[in-house]
Amino acid sequence: MEFKLNGRSILYDGNLDLDLLTYLREEANILSPKNGCSPQAACGACTVDLNGKTVLSCVTKMSKVADGTVTTIEGMGQYRQDVFANAFVEKGGVQCGFCIPGIVVQANSLINRNPEPTWDDVEKALTPNLCRCTGYKKVIDSILYAADAIWREEEIPPPTSDGKVGSRHPKYDAQKLVLGQHEYTDDIRIEGMVHGALRFSDHPRAKVLSIDSSEAEKMDGVIRVFTADDVPGERTIGLIREDWPLMIAVGETTRYVGDVLASVVAEKETQARAAAAAIKIEYKVYEPLTDMHAAMQPDAPKIHEAGNILSKSITSRGAVTEGEA
Ligand code: FES
Ligand code: FES
Repeated sequence: MEFKLNGRSILYDGNLDLDLLTYLREEANILSPKNGCSPQAACGACTVDLNGKTVLSCVTKMSKVADGTVTTIEGMGQYRQDVFANAFVEKGGVQCGFCIPGIVVQANSLINRNPEPTWDDVEKALTPNLCRCTGYKKVIDSILYAADAIWREEEIPPPTSDGKVGSRHPKYDAQKLVLGQHEYTDDIRIEGMVHGALRFSDHPRAKVLSIDSSEAEKMDGVIRVFTADDVPGERTIGLIREDWPLMIAVGETTRYVGDVLASVVAEKETQARAAAAAIKIEYKVYEPLTDMHAAMQPDAPKIHEAGNILSKSITSRGAVTEGEA
């Protein structure tokens, strides 16, 4: 099938069930759409434009892209990139920046449909996009500032500073954050790099009876599967007490669904994830302990060998003067 990506014609004969986000990041090396929650469709960081409408690329299959036009920030053109980048930096609308490329795509699409959006229009358009650290007020200020410049066909100059103590300084190098050009861990690409995926516990509290990775090891691209047996020496870490195993071994009991039972190294991320999911694990499932008051009862199952109480602190209240006497 064929489609257009940022103005270029693409012939695609790969997996039509693949999600567009994975295609863009792993195959086309287009890194402005971010993976914040894929494939949960909950954060909006992966937003791209498909045929003039925004879509969450983490849940858009390649089959939906056939004969279509996909635009990411990379294909928005220099003028719009500069306007958005400088507007967000000027108005303080970017902090960590992870959510901003998705928000910029959403804002660009809104401005294409409605060149003079109101505050309410922007607020409504941003419904699918979460921002964890800037909040929304400054983000909306930035979008309205950009929309106004675009409407007037004006540029927004890069914010500057006199460099003096007490004056306002633009966030350092923040234009790159706005345009998705900052290199987060997930954006690092190194020649010959391989990918890892973890197999987490399927149950919050269960004894692991067996881990069978024989089929996963034969899957395409898989280089190696590791389990606790491959970890020499100590496996536990922890800040207050060293009671957190990095991997759970056969015969041990999980403490939460974040416990790791195996890890897969493969040539591609999709291969590593598929192999991690294919590992067969047998469990003896126990009732999870989900309430801290229940966990303190004498007959509660012990989550940690030393008991479920990490430490005791006793606070006494009363009159300061009596205490001093
Ligand atoms: S990564 Fe697609 S919505 Fe979060
Ligand atoms: S700027 Fe950090 S999540 Fe939005």
